[in-house]
Amino acid sequence: MSELNSALEHPIYNYKVVRQFTVMTVVWGIVGMLVGVLIAAQLAWPALNFDLPWLSFGRLRPLHTNAVIFAFGGSALFASSYYVVQRTCQTRLISDKLAAVTFWGWQLVILSAAITLPLGLTSGKEYAELEWPIDILITVVWVLYAIVFFGTIAKRKAQHIYVANWFFGAFIIAVAVLHIINSLVIPVTASKSYSVYAGTVDAMVQWWYGHNAVGFFLTAGFLGMMYYFVPKQAERPVYSYRLSIVHFWALVAVYIWAGPHHLHYTALPDWAQSLGMVMSLILLAPSWGGMINGMMTLSGAWHKLRTDPILRFLVVSLSFYGMSTFEGPMMSIKTVNSLSHYTDWTIGHVHSGALGWVAMISIGAMYHLIPILFGRERMYSTSLINAHFWMSTIGTVLYITSMWVNGILQGLMWRAYNQDGTLTYSFVESVAASYPGYVVRVFGGAIFFSGMLLMAYNLYMTSRKDIEPQAAPAVASAA
Ligand code: HEM
Ligand code: HEM
Repeated sequence: MSELNSALEHPIYNYKVVRQFTVMTVVWGIVGMLVGVLIAAQLAWPALNFDLPWLSFGRLRPLHTNAVIFAFGGSALFASSYYVVQRTCQTRLISDKLAAVTFWGWQLVILSAAITLPLGLTSGKEYAELEWPIDILITVVWVLYAIVFFGTIAKRKAQHIYVANWFFGAFIIAVAVLHIINSLVIPVTASKSYSVYAGTVDAMVQWWYGHNAVGFFLTAGFLGMMYYFVPKQAERPVYSYRLSIVHFWALVAVYIWAGPHHLHYTALPDWAQSLGMVMSLILLAPSWGGMINGMMTLSGAWHKLRTDPILRFLVVSLSFYGMSTFEGPMMSIKTVNSLSHYTDWTIGHVHSGALGWVAMISIGAMYHLIPILFGRERMYSTSLINAHFWMSTIGTVLYITSMWVNGILQGLMWRAYNQDGTLTYSFVESVAASYPGYVVRVFGGAIFFSGMLLMAYNLYMTSRKDIEPQAAPAVASAA
């Protein structure tokens, strides 16, 4: 094994840590999505809670969100940022030891989450559920990550800082600030703490954090990924460097104000809600700036989509990014939000971003990386990547369309009045009406999840030195 490892080491760059994070991206993707399919099934068939507290929906839901966002998405971001910063700065990571500490530290964070969340230990703040000792560990790992990343930029051999690094850098700094401010608590015991903020201020800080977790963790970091892997895979230069800089600054300047759209019609002052709404509407422009820049990078290379399933992953992820960043501003309009809030429409919006954008761009980037990291010419099987692509696309479409139908159905049922002012439908009637949508979602999720299993098999076969990659399918060689 150590012989294999040394044969795989790159003379200039640290590929080991990139490889470790890449493998864990696939592992945590499988775990997180399996939990997703289970909780989706629990919503359709509640008997699957088995009357066991640690297997109940309430405890597994945060396990799902933490596993897919921080374990799967986080590992993909660590892998790609460590790879991209080395390649574009033409230098090795500033410290192999520190990089290794970030890898093992991040895995420890994930394991702690996987143990404490099913036990019901939670701060109760969405996407920031982990209790204070784990929060401190996250802070330490994150600061080391910042040192490795920015330290590598500081010792770069290329004069220019490539735009992907701007996005990764903004993601690292913003997440540090958000995490530290939102996690300020007064500990009571090792597993229980109370927020230093109270009431409406607590809610405001939480959604300032929550929305910017979307903006910087689920968006800026993945845009960094996009700016490296789309041009690489398409073998074209970025369409407009100027546009990338303009939309970068616009994105980071505007995102930070949009959080109050999560608190429409609450005790938050009305002006703050309206400000959140307006900023969210403005956000459409920089978001689409990124989407258009990525898409247009394919100018002159569109024909490659016919034969390259990795490029298809990357491009379709950009279309879902465009779609969810159109939908988000619409949902932030107060009158629209009065229909969509609390319904499955929000869940559909989340997953058009999460499955369509975040997962698909990560999967595409990982397929690009895996052969390089294992010293192979290409992935073991292109046909399996192609099958995975279709499973991901069909799974995402089934998931989000079923949730749109459910969401609008629920919103309309909840606001229907009789002439005498009483409600037309009881809540439970809306739950019963949602059942078909929940079943469709289970199927969509299961299809997406199964695609990840194909990826794991393809990764394993690619990693084996004794197995040659399968011949590329006929259609690919025709190009
Ligand atoms: C097989 C794939 C997946 C399935 C079946 C699935 C299923 C689910 C289900 C059933 C919920 C709870 C919905 C509710 O409370 O009504 C949920 C929530 C959530 N999932 Fe997924 N999920 C999947 C993949 C992902 C991925 C890859 C991500 C992120 C990268 C993600 C992010 C989230 C988030 C952020 C929430 C919370 C949404 C909210 O509170 O509004 N999911 N998921
Ligand atoms: C211009 C960009 C976007 C805007 C303005 C926006 C706006 C919104 C709005 C208005 C909501 C509903 C809030 C509510 O009623 O509670 C929402 C929820 C959400 N969005 Fe977006 N969105 C955008 C892009 C994205 C993207 C790209 C992703 C994922 C990658 C995403 C992930 C989420 C999540 C996870 C939630 C659920 C939060 C929760 O309640 O737990 N959004 N977004």
